[in-house]
Amino acid sequence: MNLSPINLFAYEQLAKEHLSQMVFDYYSSGAWDEITLQDNRAAFARVKLRPKMLVDVSEVNLNTKVLGEYLRLPLLIAPMAFQCLAHPEGEIATALAAENAGVGMVLSTLANKSLEEVATVANGLQWFQLYIHKDQGLTRALVERAYRAGYKAICLTVDAPVLGKRERDQLNQFTLPAGLQLGNFTHISGLEIPQEQGESGLLTYFSQQINPAVTWKDLQWLQSISPLPVVVKGILRPEDAVLAVEYGAQAIVVSNHGGRQLDGAIASLEALAPIVAAVNGRAEVLLDGGIRRGTDILKALALGAKAVLIGRPVLWGLAVAGKTGVSHIISLLEDELKVAMALSGCPTLEDIDSSIAY
Ligand code: FNR
Ligand code: LAC
Repeated sequence: MNLSPINLFAYEQLAKEHLSQMVFDYYSSGAWDEITLQDNRAAFARVKLRPKMLVDVSEVNLNTKVLGEYLRLPLLIAPMAFQCLAHPEGEIATALAAENAGVGMVLSTLANKSLEEVATVANGLQWFQLYIHKDQGLTRALVERAYRAGYKAICLTVDAPVLGKRERDQLNQFTLPAGLQLGNFTHISGLEIPQEQGESGLLTYFSQQINPAVTWKDLQWLQSISPLPVVVKGILRPEDAVLAVEYGAQAIVVSNHGGRQLDGAIASLEALAPIVAAVNGRAEVLLDGGIRRGTDILKALALGAKAVLIGRPVLWGLAVAGKTGVSHIISLLEDELKVAMALSGCPTLEDIDSSIAY
């Protein structure tokens, strides 16, 4: 009998049994009262679908391109730190599952595996997520390494000049267990997640290492040190989306970091349509935050996203069954999206227009 979890929520339940309290809390937490975390989900429930009838949906096609690169479905795996807390293979397992499924993957600066190792074992579409450190030489070296290793874009996360306050991490004094490292910095002594009394070690890392003085000008600097396109992740205002375009971003990820940064920030889905209107085709607009169902992807695409990213469900898949679990998570979403598209009379992604959702 096949007892595989039936959907992404069942994966979360099961993953909880596989993870320590500290790790489950770090993965699942939002900032402060977790209002934004919850609202990311609630926003999907507020959007209604207006399905078209009597359309031939005998073939449903999910293929698309993001920044000119082919994807088998409009999905990427969001950058997430410390994936070896879920499974020993960590980011390697995630990258292999993404490649097999034909979806993209964004590797975090704070991965446990090095960017070179991930790029060597897996050949799918990979972007590198950048946290600009106070040490400019270190930051520049990361970008150069990502380019040399074959990453196709630098995804600059702009919603974390300081780390959001996740109180469960503070209570747990979150840190990396012995044996786990910052995979991109193993050659640099002293660059590690500290063990901190009464505080999250990650929060301390951010306040010591991450540059809170980054501004739009640094987007130009980033483009001057590498030929890679820049994707700006963490935009919630149309005004900022326009600035991102003016400063050269080729794509924008509408995101509130999965509710982990500014609690009370607008749900990412709610922020989407005005941003798409303001960008007006000058950059590709992606979305993350709360995607758990195929219908969520359909709604995001109907409101103007080119593709979506998924975060936590990938960690649940990893925790339950490593690469196999991540592959299953992706195939559950793919199957749900296909059914949702058929039921709304949209045989291709181009058919998903703004008349489908409101
Ligand atoms: C993240 N996220 C994140 N974002 C980023 O730019 N760099 C990072 O290193 C991380 N690390 C990270 C760790 C964990 C455990 C989580 C849950 C999230 C945010 C991530 O890319 C994405 O924006 C959200 O996770 C999307 O929301 P959902 O799909 O988790 O609801
Ligand atoms: C987080 C950071 C690492 O959300 O982005 O935990």
